[in-house]
Amino acid sequence: MAEIRIRNTNERIQNEQQVREFLENQEVLYEHWDPSKLPAHLQEQFILSDEDKAEILKTFDTEIRDLAGRRGYLTWDIIALSEATPNLPELLKKFEQVHTHTEDEVRAITAGRGIFIIKGTDDVGYFDVELGAGDVISVPEHKPHFFTLMDNKQIVAVRLFIETEGWIAHPFADPSFQKA
Ligand SMILES: [Fe+2]
Repeated sequence: MAEIRIRNTNERIQNEQQVREFLENQEVLYEHWDPSKLPAHLQEQFILSDEDKAEILKTFDTEIRDLAGRRGYLTWDIIALSEATPNLPELLKKFEQVHTHTEDEVRAITAGRGIFIIKGTDDVGYFDVELGAGDVISVPEHKPHFFTLMDNKQIVAVRLFIETEGWIAHPFADPSFQKA
């Protein structure tokens, strides 16, 4: 289940219903898939062959097509990151800058954990969404955010796009943002 941390107040929201309400108010789509559907050999696997990736996509095919159909996403793939990923420190550095996109950023976590840092409404400010296996998030187009990994630096996620060019990051210069 996702957890929220509001950066200005350090308030944490862990109750499922409250997490859902908070994200709905912030116009961030949040859903949950059943991660136990994944075959055991893929549940804690972060180095994936093309066959592994195809198997993950097949496992969640119904969920992917349902979400894509409702939201207009047309293409999807798998991203796997771990300390075995070449250039991981450089990649994370690139990720960790507040930016926007011209389409939603959609991630369905199938293994590991990650955090989205999102600029909320003015009364809330920046908040973290900590995501684990099964959590599905869509950060709306033009909403400033960035993504990073937890300390163990392991994640596998399905990414959905309208068109892959829509995922190009546009830096969002925000003097009010403070790394916490
Ligand atoms: Fe992004």
